Amino acid sequence: MFEAVKNSEKQFRNLVNGEWITSMNHQFIDIFSPLDQRLLGRIPAMTTTEVDGVIKAAKEAQKQWKLTPVSERATILNKVADLLLEKVEEIAYLMMLEIGKDRKSASAEITRTADFIRFTADSGKNISGESISGDRFPGFKSNKVSVVTREPLGVVLAISPFNYPINLAASKIAPALVIGNSVVLKPATQGSLSGLYLARIFQMAGVPAGVLNTVTGKGSEIGDYITTHKGIDFINFTGSTDIGRHISKLTEMVPLLMELGGKDAAIVLEDADLEKTADQIVAGAYAYSGQRCTAVKRIIVMEPVADILVSKLKEKISQLKVGNPLEHESLDVVPLIDERAADFVTELIEDAKLKGANLVIGGARKGNLIEPTLFDKVTVDMRLAWEEPFGPVVPVIRVKSKEEAIAIANASEYGLQSSVFTENINDAFYIANQLEVGTVQVNNKTERGPDHFPFLGVKASGIGTQGIRYSIESMSRPKATIINLQR
Ligand code: NAP
Ligand code: G3H
Repeated sequence: MFEAVKNSEKQFRNLVNGEWITSMNHQFIDIFSPLDQRLLGRIPAMTTTEVDGVIKAAKEAQKQWKLTPVSERATILNKVADLLLEKVEEIAYLMMLEIGKDRKSASAEITRTADFIRFTADSGKNISGESISGDRFPGFKSNKVSVVTREPLGVVLAISPFNYPINLAASKIAPALVIGNSVVLKPATQGSLSGLYLARIFQMAGVPAGVLNTVTGKGSEIGDYITTHKGIDFINFTGSTDIGRHISKLTEMVPLLMELGGKDAAIVLEDADLEKTADQIVAGAYAYSGQRCTAVKRIIVMEPVADILVSKLKEKISQLKVGNPLEHESLDVVPLIDERAADFVTELIEDAKLKGANLVIGGARKGNLIEPTLFDKVTVDMRLAWEEPFGPVVPVIRVKSKEEAIAIANASEYGLQSSVFTENINDAFYIANQLEVGTVQVNNKTERGPDHFPFLGVKASGIGTQGIRYSIESMSRPKATIINLQR
């Protein structure tokens, strides 16, 4: 099934207008495994001329695709979900090698994606317009009726990050397709192989030629060209705030949906159930080594319960499974995606040590594998209090009042999610109402999902709202046809 995606020399191809195409100028990028540096494959570094061809194909194919009945589009998506589940082991193995995710978590990502796609197919069929009578507005009569339908936008450029190469690609592609857009997928370079397998599955399920296409190449080289291309009607981007900001400065008059970085705070009040709180925080902070936008990235705790919480966290962190996914089916902490990522986390650790934070546990590094690390008594002059490590290191910041907790939480440039741990619903709402984030979790770790909930970041964490129905709506627009009845 995946033979079309690559040749025997591990040269991968791109899906363009229904064909698997190799590099025109024979330029390839080597993809190595972060687990043992083995060469996994070579992806084409596409030229600007090739990108022109991709977007032209997507534009042309969309004209027919938007006329395809939504029930047929939904049937194809359901087939995608079936095929994903059939191929779960093969794809999970590839993901493990390519992005270092343990096999159990990789399989869970694929299963969740199949569920996401089925839900999207159903939601697509249930998206409806409305008719609005003119007489609701002063001075108008009911002979004027606006018939409002939803129209696709055209060609959606989907740019996905390395950490969820299947889920965060499919969660852009499926909602875009079900409402009648065509898609150009630009996967993260480290994550491209998984992205190309995913594209193959969409093709096998019956997505017509040109409706889904792929572009591979380094974002730093091809990114500006593709994001400013006149043929792109919408950009759905997930990645770092730096790149998101860069794209939003560069583009004009193109709507954007952006899921960016985060520094999610877990706020722990004096009356919280500290045992359950510690379980939630540890699971939220260290899964996939903290390489998740929604990972708990700082703990803000009331001083009187800080010692007990920290000792519970320490005990639970010491029980985390740490290692190489090549040797274990299920792990919490795995090697980071590359050396640069590990170097960055090391810098934050060194800065915290230098400025006097208490190292509670961890801190050691072997290659790109960094032990799960916790610092206590982190202060606001330390980088760890503000920067997103995207690695397994978490600061504990002690506070004296709810107001101080809220102030520190809101002082971050980010605004993705926060958690509040308390037994008092009034306190939970008091704090939740003041937090400048897209979502507040009460007595739960920060996390995306269930995937039909709205998911959004404010401030530097994003633009627009994801979540199945919200994503479909974001990638479509109302079209009003006004009937003026003669009376
Ligand atoms: P990244 O380095 O920003 O890359 C994201 C994507 O952007 C990749 O496909 C990358 O391609 C591409 N890109 C790079 N430069 C570009 C340019 N000039 N124009 C267009 N595209 C360009 O992020 P990452 O390291 O993959 O992911 C980690 C970051 O994503 C973290 O900050 C995390 O918080 C964030 N994230 C946020 C969410 C959310 O829902 N809020 C979810 C997941 C991740 P190349 O790989 O070829 O450079
Ligand atoms: O990395 C960002 C993902 O959207 C996080 O999803 O909370 O299910 O791990 P998650």
